[in-house]
Amino acid sequence: MRRKLVVGNWKMYGRLASNRVLLEGILTGVRELHGADYAVCVPYPYLAQAQSLLQGSNVAWGAQNVNQHEEGAFTGAVAPGMLTDFGCSYVIIGHSERRGLFHESNEIVDAKFIATLKAGMKPVFCVGETLAERESGITEQVVATQLKSVLSYAGVQALSNAVIAYEPVWAIGTGRTATPDQAQAVHAYIRGCVAQHDSQIAQSLCILYGGSVKANNAAELFAMPDIDGGLIGGASLVADDFLAICRAGVRT
Ligand code: 13P
Repeated sequence: MRRKLVVGNWKMYGRLASNRVLLEGILTGVRELHGADYAVCVPYPYLAQAQSLLQGSNVAWGAQNVNQHEEGAFTGAVAPGMLTDFGCSYVIIGHSERRGLFHESNEIVDAKFIATLKAGMKPVFCVGETLAERESGITEQVVATQLKSVLSYAGVQALSNAVIAYEPVWAIGTGRTATPDQAQAVHAYIRGCVAQHDSQIAQSLCILYGGSVKANNAAELFAMPDIDGGLIGGASLVADDFLAICRAGVRT
């Protein structure tokens, strides 16, 4: 039986004062929830704040990106060991905003995936198709290519310490959520692809859905057999909304 996981992706939002209100609000509500896992992935400068407010609680924290190198002359980059210095458990890898806006290729994303694992953190590895790709009927091919790339680079065993997030690009920040059936179909496909390599790892693999998950649609998405929780953007910035989604993770 897989545990549900709800992860907030704050993207480039937040300030010290508002973060404190948000994290304290989340902590108050999440304290009474059991049976699921929770995390927030915050901007780098706020990792120390997340660590000091969340340590000892049932909310983990992590980053939204990492550099693939251990150290070196990479101005502006952040190494995996710097994230573990601040207690990070998760790193979002290959988000479509990084793939698209920052031109991260499968090769770069795969190297970041390995670097995250090597440092002892869990990659939340994002896959998903654009609207044009869905409309041309190649959703499965796109997702399979992204998956195959990391599988051939890291090996299926690596997935036993990772999380996959299916995030259709057309559903991110648009208010246009995939229907539970649309999401379930891709999640089942992803699990099937992994099962071709190792059926046990596939069965225990946590596959999150991301893309306009809100308080009013989380429960029906999380009720689908292959949807193991959510990667939440906008709604993770409001404590009550994030908590409602966390509660949906417990109920199903
Ligand atoms: P929204 O929930 O704002 O659509 O963002 C989803 C996302 O990109 C999470 O990584």
